Order: sequence, then structure tokens, then C-alpha cells
Amino acid sequence: MQHLIAPSLLSANFLQLEKEIDMINQSQADWFHLDVMDGLFVPNISFGMPVIKAIKRKAEKPLDVHLMIMDPDRYIGQFRDVGADILSVHYEACPHLHRCLQNIRAKGMKAGVVLNPHSPVSLIEDILEQADMVLLMSVNPGFGGQSFIPKTISKIKQLREMIDRQNLSTLIEVDGGVTLENKNELLISGTDALVAGNAIFKTEDPLLTIELFKKK
Ligand code: DX5
Ligand code: ZN
Repeated sequence: MQHLIAPSLLSANFLQLEKEIDMINQSQADWFHLDVMDGLFVPNISFGMPVIKAIKRKAEKPLDVHLMIMDPDRYIGQFRDVGADILSVHYEACPHLHRCLQNIRAKGMKAGVVLNPHSPVSLIEDILEQADMVLLMSVNPGFGGQSFIPKTISKIKQLREMIDRQNLSTLIEVDGGVTLENKNELLISGTDALVAGNAIFKTEDPLLTIELFKKK
């Protein structure tokens, strides 16, 4: 499978959001990665429903919504209604993860589970079947522009083995500090989807950068 690229709009220029969305529409990117933060689960607040709803009207690619909020179960229906296609919730923010993932699927979205850097992949062994995607955080969530935590590489490999062993088609996504320099190692280790914020939007030519991210 050709790997997927999901530019994180957190690093976009919000004064020109429409232009940034058009750029992604025209690019080789596969998804829009949207980071929702509640100021409680993570020490930052980003954007919520009205902004996602507006993005949905312009976006021509699936919305990959990464929830960094406590008890995400409360909002699953609302995120579906504003246009989320993939909805990912943190293992650490969700006391009833199995039910939460089932609810996401029941509402017609792909279900993702996210692990913080301190959480071993073994924690999700028993609910892997309920997840269409596992998102491994390679920085502590909350901010763009941080540097990649090297330990993530061995977690990707372990997770790849676990998925193959269970004969599943769960995707592995990696988020945080992803660059053109480390992308190949991430792909070789078993990553299917790369999220990149700063490494795309803070470059001179984001369109070209996305093209380079898509190359093997
Ligand atoms: C961090 C977010 C990331 C962030 C990545 O909490 O989940 O999606 O935007 O930004 P970069 O690629 O700049 O590390
Ligand atoms: Zn994210």
C-alpha cells in the first residue's frame, strides 16, 4: 500500500484557512489532520465544531480528527455531524475505550485509538480489533513543532507485529515531529500514515513538500 500523508492544519495560517485548504485539495495529501484540544487533557486549546464544520465545506479529502479531549464519548455524535470521517480518541482519556470505539463505528466513522509516548502498545492488544487505526504519538500531545521521540520507532515495529499476528488491517499513523528526514525510517518500520504540521506548513513550498513526503 502506498503510504498516506495527513497535513496537520494546526500549523496552517488561520488567517488564510481557505487558501491552505485549497492547497491541500490540490496536493497529493490524502487526509486533513485536525487536532482538537480541550485545555484539560492537554495544556492547550485549539478549535472545535464550528471550525471543523467550515473546513468540511471546502475540504475534498477525508477529515482525520484527532481528539485530545477528556471523555470523548460525550461528543462522538457531534463530531460526526460536523464532518469527521476518521475519529481518534486517546487511550489515556477514555475509561471505556471498547464502547467508545464501537460508538464511533456505529455512527459511520472509522475509529482510531491514540497512544501517548508513555503508553506501551501492549495496552491496546485486546481492543485492536475494534480499531481501524492506531495513532502513535511521537511527541507529547498539545503543540506542533516539537522534536520526534526516537523510542517511537520500536513501538511502530512492535505494533506492526501485533497487527499482523492478529491478521488485522488496522492502519498505523504517526504524529509529532515527523520530517522529510525521518519519514523513511518511519515507513520502513511499518507506518501507513504520516501526520506533519510544521514540516509542511512552515516550508517555502508546502505543495512540493507534500510531494516529497509522498515519495518513497
Ligand atoms: C500535536 C498534534 C500534532 C501536531 C503535529 O499534539 O497532535 O498533530 O500538529 O505537529 P508537528 O508535525 O509540527 O510536530
Ligand atoms: Zn494530531
